[in-house]
Amino acid sequence: MNEVKQALAQAADAARFAPSIHNTQPWRWVVRADRLELYAVTGRQLHAQDPDARMLLVSCGAALHHAQVALDAEGWGYTVERPGSLDGPLAVITPGDRRPAEPEATRHLQMLQVRRTDRRTVRDEAVPGPVLDALVKAASPGGAELHLLDRDQVLDLAVAVEHAQSAEDADERARAELATWVGGDRPDGTGIPASALPAEVPLTTVAERDFQAEGSVTAGDGHDRAATYGVLYGRGDAPSDWLRSGESLSRLWLAATEHAVSLLPFSGPVEVPFTRAALTRLLGGTGVPYLAVRLGLQDPDRTAPPHTPRLPATQVITLAD
Ligand SMILES: Cc1cc2nc3c(=O)[nH]c(=O)nc-3n(C[C@H](O)[C@H](O)[C@H](O)COP(=O)(O)O)c2cc1C
Repeated sequence: MNEVKQALAQAADAARFAPSIHNTQPWRWVVRADRLELYAVTGRQLHAQDPDARMLLVSCGAALHHAQVALDAEGWGYTVERPGSLDGPLAVITPGDRRPAEPEATRHLQMLQVRRTDRRTVRDEAVPGPVLDALVKAASPGGAELHLLDRDQVLDLAVAVEHAQSAEDADERARAELATWVGGDRPDGTGIPASALPAEVPLTTVAERDFQAEGSVTAGDGHDRAATYGVLYGRGDAPSDWLRSGESLSRLWLAATEHAVSLLPFSGPVEVPFTRAALTRLLGGTGVPYLAVRLGLQDPDRTAPPHTPRLPATQVITLAD
Protein backbone atom coordinates (compact mmCIF):
# COMPACT_ATOMS: atom_id res chain seq x y z
CA MET A 1 0.00 0.00 0.00
CA ASN A 2 1.42 3.44 -0.87
CA GLU A 3 1.93 6.14 1.76
CA VAL A 4 -1.18 8.10 0.77
CA LYS A 5 -3.48 5.09 0.76
CA GLN A 6 -2.15 4.00 4.14
CA ALA A 7 -2.84 7.47 5.62
CA LEU A 8 -6.38 7.38 4.20
CA ALA A 9 -6.99 3.91 5.66
CA GLN A 10 -5.78 5.14 9.04
CA ALA A 11 -8.08 8.16 8.81
CA ALA A 12 -11.07 5.90 8.09
CA ASP A 13 -10.05 3.72 11.03
CA ALA A 14 -9.84 6.74 13.38
CA ALA A 15 -13.33 7.79 12.23
CA ARG A 16 -14.74 4.62 13.81
CA PHE A 17 -14.50 6.43 17.18
CA ALA A 18 -17.01 9.08 16.08
CA PRO A 19 -20.29 9.54 17.98
CA SER A 20 -23.47 8.55 16.15
CA ILE A 21 -27.19 8.50 16.85
CA HIS A 22 -27.81 5.43 19.08
CA ASN A 23 -24.30 4.30 18.08
CA THR A 24 -25.64 3.13 14.71
CA GLN A 25 -22.33 4.07 12.96
CA PRO A 26 -24.25 4.62 9.69
CA TRP A 27 -21.14 5.06 7.53
CA ARG A 28 -18.88 3.18 5.15
CA TRP A 29 -15.51 4.26 3.78
CA VAL A 30 -13.91 3.37 0.46
CA VAL A 31 -10.15 3.90 0.46
CA ARG A 32 -8.74 4.54 -3.04
CA ALA A 33 -5.16 5.21 -4.10
CA ASP A 34 -5.79 8.97 -4.32
CA ARG A 35 -8.95 9.67 -2.29
CA LEU A 36 -11.18 8.60 0.58
CA GLU A 37 -14.93 8.31 -0.04
CA LEU A 38 -17.59 8.41 2.66
CA TYR A 39 -20.96 6.69 2.06
CA ALA A 40 -24.13 6.55 4.17
CA VAL A 41 -25.35 3.11 5.23
CA THR A 42 -29.12 3.50 5.14
CA GLY A 43 -29.45 -0.07 6.40
CA ARG A 44 -28.37 1.36 9.77
CA GLN A 45 -30.65 4.43 9.54
CA LEU A 46 -33.35 4.85 12.20
CA HIS A 47 -36.22 4.82 9.70
CA ALA A 48 -38.97 5.53 12.26
CA GLN A 49 -37.14 8.07 14.40
CA ASP A 50 -35.03 9.67 11.68
CA PRO A 51 -36.99 9.19 8.41
CA ASP A 52 -35.24 12.08 6.62
CA ALA A 53 -31.79 10.84 7.69
CA ARG A 54 -30.94 14.11 9.43
CA MET A 55 -29.33 12.42 12.43
CA LEU A 56 -27.65 9.92 10.10
CA LEU A 57 -26.06 12.87 8.28
CA VAL A 58 -24.98 14.58 11.53
CA SER A 59 -23.38 11.27 12.59
CA CYS A 60 -21.60 10.86 9.23
CA GLY A 61 -20.42 14.47 9.50
CA ALA A 62 -18.85 13.68 12.88
CA ALA A 63 -17.07 10.70 11.29
CA LEU A 64 -15.95 12.94 8.40
CA HIS A 65 -14.37 15.39 10.84
CA HIS A 66 -12.73 12.55 12.80
CA ALA A 67 -11.04 11.38 9.56
CA GLN A 68 -9.77 14.94 8.97
CA VAL A 69 -8.37 15.05 12.52
CA ALA A 70 -6.36 11.89 11.80
CA LEU A 71 -4.96 13.40 8.56
CA ASP A 72 -4.13 16.69 10.36
CA ALA A 73 -2.23 14.73 13.03
CA GLU A 74 -0.04 13.22 10.29
CA GLY A 75 0.50 16.62 8.66
CA TRP A 76 -1.48 15.91 5.47
CA GLY A 77 -3.08 18.76 3.58
CA TYR A 78 -6.37 17.81 1.85
CA THR A 79 -9.52 19.12 0.27
CA VAL A 80 -13.05 17.95 1.13
CA GLU A 81 -15.99 17.83 -1.27
CA ARG A 82 -19.44 17.23 0.15
CA PRO A 83 -21.88 16.03 -2.55
CA GLY A 84 -24.12 14.99 0.37
CA SER A 85 -25.77 12.21 -1.62
CA LEU A 86 -27.36 9.33 0.26
CA ASP A 87 -26.96 7.16 -2.88
CA GLY A 88 -23.52 8.29 -4.07
CA PRO A 89 -20.66 9.58 -1.94
CA LEU A 90 -21.59 11.85 0.95
CA ALA A 91 -18.08 13.28 0.94
CA VAL A 92 -14.71 12.80 -0.74
CA ILE A 93 -11.38 13.67 0.88
CA THR A 94 -8.48 14.23 -1.57
CA PRO A 95 -5.05 14.43 0.07
CA GLY A 96 -2.45 17.03 -0.95
CA ASP A 97 1.03 17.83 0.34
CA ARG A 98 2.49 16.72 3.64
CA ARG A 99 4.23 18.95 6.19
CA PRO A 100 5.09 18.69 9.93
CA ALA A 101 1.91 18.33 12.00
CA GLU A 102 0.81 21.07 14.40
CA PRO A 103 0.95 20.00 18.11
CA GLU A 104 -2.74 20.97 18.34
CA ALA A 105 -3.58 18.32 15.71
CA THR A 106 -1.89 15.60 17.77
CA ARG A 107 -3.89 16.68 20.82
CA HIS A 108 -7.15 16.50 18.87
CA LEU A 109 -6.32 12.95 17.77
CA GLN A 110 -5.81 11.98 21.42
CA MET A 111 -9.13 13.59 22.39
CA LEU A 112 -10.91 11.54 19.75
CA GLN A 113 -10.06 8.40 21.72
CA VAL A 114 -10.96 9.92 25.11
CA ARG A 115 -14.32 11.47 24.08
CA ARG A 116 -17.53 9.71 25.07
CA THR A 117 -21.17 10.44 25.86
CA ASP A 118 -21.55 10.92 29.61
CA ARG A 119 -25.15 10.82 30.84
CA ARG A 120 -24.31 11.37 34.52
CA THR A 121 -25.55 14.58 36.09
CA VAL A 122 -23.13 17.50 36.18
CA ARG A 123 -21.57 19.43 39.07
CA ASP A 124 -23.09 22.56 40.59
CA GLU A 125 -20.24 24.64 39.20
CA ALA A 126 -20.72 26.34 35.84
CA VAL A 127 -18.38 25.96 32.88
CA PRO A 128 -16.20 29.13 33.07
CA GLY A 129 -17.07 31.92 30.60
CA PRO A 130 -13.70 31.85 28.76
CA VAL A 131 -14.10 28.09 28.20
CA LEU A 132 -17.61 28.62 26.79
CA ASP A 133 -16.20 31.31 24.47
CA ALA A 134 -13.54 28.84 23.28
CA LEU A 135 -16.19 26.18 22.65
CA VAL A 136 -18.42 28.55 20.66
CA LYS A 137 -15.36 29.42 18.56
CA ALA A 138 -14.38 25.76 18.13
CA ALA A 139 -17.80 24.82 16.72
CA SER A 140 -18.02 27.47 14.03
CA PRO A 141 -15.44 27.10 11.23
CA GLY A 142 -17.24 26.17 8.03
CA GLY A 143 -20.20 24.42 9.61
CA ALA A 144 -22.79 25.26 12.23
CA GLU A 145 -22.76 27.89 14.97
CA LEU A 146 -23.35 27.18 18.64
CA HIS A 147 -26.01 29.43 20.19
CA LEU A 148 -25.89 29.38 24.01
CA LEU A 149 -29.33 29.56 25.65
CA ASP A 150 -30.34 31.98 28.37
CA ARG A 151 -32.43 30.81 31.36
CA ASP A 152 -35.83 31.35 29.68
CA GLN A 153 -34.67 29.60 26.53
CA VAL A 154 -33.49 26.62 28.62
CA LEU A 155 -37.05 26.32 29.95
CA ASP A 156 -38.36 26.41 26.37
CA LEU A 157 -35.86 23.69 25.46
CA ALA A 158 -37.05 21.61 28.44
CA VAL A 159 -40.63 21.82 27.16
CA ALA A 160 -39.57 20.88 23.60
CA VAL A 161 -37.56 17.90 24.91
CA GLU A 162 -40.54 16.70 26.97
CA HIS A 163 -42.95 17.00 24.02
CA ALA A 164 -40.53 15.19 21.70
CA GLN A 165 -40.12 12.38 24.23
CA SER A 166 -43.91 11.99 24.54
CA ALA A 167 -44.32 11.96 20.75
CA GLU A 168 -41.64 9.29 20.31
CA ASP A 169 -42.96 7.23 23.26
CA ALA A 170 -46.38 7.17 21.58
CA ASP A 171 -44.92 5.92 18.28
CA GLU A 172 -44.89 2.12 18.26
CA ARG A 173 -42.34 1.89 15.41
CA ALA A 174 -39.96 4.28 17.18
CA ARG A 175 -40.28 2.22 20.39
CA ALA A 176 -39.48 -0.99 18.51
CA GLU A 177 -36.47 0.69 16.88
CA LEU A 178 -35.19 1.84 20.27
CA ALA A 179 -35.47 -1.71 21.62
CA THR A 180 -33.37 -2.94 18.67
CA TRP A 181 -30.54 -0.48 19.20
CA VAL A 182 -30.44 0.14 22.94
CA GLY A 183 -29.71 -1.94 26.03
CA GLY A 184 -27.96 -5.20 26.88
CA ASP A 185 -24.32 -6.04 26.06
CA ARG A 186 -24.23 -5.22 22.32
CA PRO A 187 -21.72 -7.89 21.22
CA ASP A 188 -22.25 -7.03 17.52
CA GLY A 189 -20.41 -3.72 18.02
CA THR A 190 -23.34 -1.31 17.51
CA GLY A 191 -25.98 0.31 19.71
CA ILE A 192 -25.93 1.66 23.25
CA PRO A 193 -25.12 -0.95 25.92
CA ALA A 194 -26.60 -0.87 29.43
CA SER A 195 -23.14 0.13 30.72
CA ALA A 196 -23.54 3.58 29.05
CA LEU A 197 -27.06 4.29 30.35
CA PRO A 198 -28.05 5.69 33.75
CA ALA A 199 -29.71 3.24 36.15
CA GLU A 200 -32.46 5.84 36.52
CA VAL A 201 -33.22 8.83 34.30
CA PRO A 202 -31.83 11.72 36.40
CA LEU A 203 -34.14 14.47 37.67
CA THR A 204 -32.97 17.45 35.68
CA THR A 205 -34.65 20.59 34.32
CA VAL A 206 -34.06 19.40 30.77
CA ALA A 207 -34.86 15.69 30.90
CA GLU A 208 -32.31 13.31 29.42
CA ARG A 209 -33.60 10.98 26.72
CA ASP A 210 -35.52 8.07 28.23
CA PHE A 211 -34.12 5.11 26.30
CA GLN A 212 -36.63 2.77 27.99
CA ALA A 213 -33.85 0.28 28.71
CA GLU A 214 -32.18 -0.84 31.89
CA GLY A 215 -28.89 0.97 32.57
CA SER A 216 -26.09 0.49 35.08
CA VAL A 217 -24.44 3.93 35.33
CA THR A 218 -24.83 5.71 38.68
CA ALA A 219 -26.13 9.07 37.52
CA GLY A 220 -25.04 10.83 40.71
CA ASP A 221 -26.97 13.20 42.93
CA GLY A 222 -26.12 16.27 40.84
CA HIS A 223 -28.56 18.20 38.70
CA ASP A 224 -28.25 20.34 35.59
CA ARG A 225 -28.73 23.70 37.36
CA ALA A 226 -25.20 24.82 36.53
CA ALA A 227 -25.14 23.28 33.05
CA THR A 228 -25.06 25.44 29.93
CA TYR A 229 -27.37 24.44 27.08
CA GLY A 230 -26.84 25.34 23.47
CA VAL A 231 -28.23 24.70 20.01
CA LEU A 232 -26.04 23.99 16.99
CA TYR A 233 -27.67 25.76 14.08
CA GLY A 234 -26.96 27.00 10.57
CA ARG A 235 -28.53 28.54 7.51
CA GLY A 236 -29.14 25.53 5.28
CA ASP A 237 -31.42 22.49 5.38
CA ALA A 238 -29.70 20.51 2.58
CA PRO A 239 -27.99 17.16 3.28
CA SER A 240 -24.56 18.81 2.97
CA ASP A 241 -25.59 21.33 5.68
CA TRP A 242 -26.53 18.52 8.08
CA LEU A 243 -23.24 16.80 7.24
CA ARG A 244 -21.35 20.01 8.02
CA SER A 245 -23.24 20.36 11.31
CA GLY A 246 -21.85 16.93 12.28
CA GLU A 247 -18.36 18.19 11.55
CA SER A 248 -19.09 21.14 13.87
CA LEU A 249 -20.43 18.79 16.53
CA SER A 250 -17.20 16.78 16.37
CA ARG A 251 -15.06 19.94 16.56
CA LEU A 252 -17.08 21.19 19.52
CA TRP A 253 -17.02 17.82 21.32
CA LEU A 254 -13.25 17.33 20.94
CA ALA A 255 -12.64 20.88 22.21
CA ALA A 256 -15.01 20.24 25.14
CA THR A 257 -13.16 17.00 25.96
CA GLU A 258 -9.87 18.90 25.93
CA HIS A 259 -11.33 21.38 28.45
CA ALA A 260 -12.73 18.54 30.62
CA VAL A 261 -16.28 19.65 29.78
CA SER A 262 -18.83 16.89 29.27
CA LEU A 263 -21.18 17.24 26.29
CA LEU A 264 -24.52 15.50 26.03
CA PRO A 265 -26.50 15.71 22.76
CA PHE A 266 -30.31 16.06 22.73
CA SER A 267 -31.62 15.12 19.30
CA GLY A 268 -35.25 14.29 20.25
CA PRO A 269 -36.55 17.86 19.74
CA VAL A 270 -34.87 18.01 16.30
CA GLU A 271 -36.25 14.63 15.22
CA VAL A 272 -39.92 15.51 15.89
CA PRO A 273 -41.27 18.11 13.38
CA PHE A 274 -43.35 20.26 15.78
CA THR A 275 -40.58 20.51 18.40
CA ARG A 276 -38.05 21.24 15.62
CA ALA A 277 -40.32 24.19 14.73
CA ALA A 278 -40.26 25.25 18.41
CA LEU A 279 -36.43 25.22 18.36
CA THR A 280 -36.48 27.32 15.17
CA ARG A 281 -38.65 29.88 16.99
CA LEU A 282 -36.29 29.74 19.96
CA LEU A 283 -33.49 30.77 17.59
CA GLY A 284 -35.63 33.74 16.57
CA GLY A 285 -36.00 32.33 13.07
CA THR A 286 -32.31 33.01 12.37
CA GLY A 287 -31.44 29.47 11.36
CA VAL A 288 -32.10 25.73 11.16
CA PRO A 289 -31.58 23.87 14.47
CA TYR A 290 -29.38 20.79 14.00
CA LEU A 291 -28.87 19.53 17.57
CA ALA A 292 -29.24 20.68 21.19
CA VAL A 293 -26.36 20.04 23.58
CA ARG A 294 -25.71 20.21 27.31
CA LEU A 295 -22.28 21.36 28.49
CA GLY A 296 -21.25 20.74 32.09
CA LEU A 297 -18.52 19.77 34.51
CA GLN A 298 -18.16 16.30 35.97
CA ASP A 299 -16.71 15.35 39.33
CA PRO A 300 -13.14 14.28 38.37
CA ASP A 301 -13.05 11.80 41.28
CA ARG A 302 -15.88 9.70 39.83
CA THR A 303 -15.16 7.17 37.11
CA ALA A 304 -16.69 7.90 33.72
CA PRO A 305 -18.84 5.24 32.03
CA PRO A 306 -16.97 2.86 29.70
CA HIS A 307 -16.67 3.46 25.97
CA THR A 308 -19.44 2.09 23.75
CA PRO A 309 -18.54 -0.68 21.25
CA ARG A 310 -17.61 -0.15 17.60
CA LEU A 311 -17.99 -2.22 14.44
CA PRO A 312 -14.75 -3.88 13.29
CA ALA A 313 -12.77 -1.97 10.65
CA THR A 314 -13.37 -4.73 8.10
CA GLN A 315 -17.10 -4.00 8.25
CA VAL A 316 -16.87 -0.26 7.60
CA ILE A 317 -13.72 0.16 5.48
CA THR A 318 -13.18 -1.19 1.95
CA LEU A 319 -9.76 -1.01 0.33
CA ALA A 320 -10.39 -0.44 -3.40
CA ASP A 321 -8.32 -0.06 -6.62
C1 LIG B 1 -26.55 13.01 15.97
C2 LIG B 1 -26.47 12.46 17.37
C3 LIG B 1 -27.59 12.50 18.20
C4 LIG B 1 -27.53 11.99 19.50
N1 LIG B 1 -28.62 12.11 20.32
C5 LIG B 1 -28.54 11.71 21.61
C6 LIG B 1 -29.64 11.89 22.50
O1 LIG B 1 -30.68 12.46 22.14
N2 LIG B 1 -29.51 11.46 23.77
C7 LIG B 1 -28.37 10.85 24.22
O2 LIG B 1 -28.31 10.47 25.39
N3 LIG B 1 -27.30 10.65 23.39
C8 LIG B 1 -27.36 11.07 22.11
N4 LIG B 1 -26.28 10.90 21.26
C9 LIG B 1 -25.06 10.22 21.74
C10 LIG B 1 -24.96 8.81 21.12
O3 LIG B 1 -25.89 7.94 21.74
C11 LIG B 1 -23.51 8.30 21.27
O4 LIG B 1 -22.68 9.12 20.50
C12 LIG B 1 -23.35 6.87 20.84
O5 LIG B 1 -24.08 6.00 21.65
C13 LIG B 1 -21.88 6.46 20.87
O6 LIG B 1 -21.36 6.57 22.17
P1 LIG B 1 -20.13 7.54 22.50
O7 LIG B 1 -20.53 8.93 22.15
O8 LIG B 1 -19.91 7.38 23.99
O9 LIG B 1 -18.94 7.11 21.70
C14 LIG B 1 -26.32 11.41 19.97
C15 LIG B 1 -25.20 11.39 19.13
C16 LIG B 1 -25.26 11.92 17.85
C17 LIG B 1 -24.03 11.92 16.98
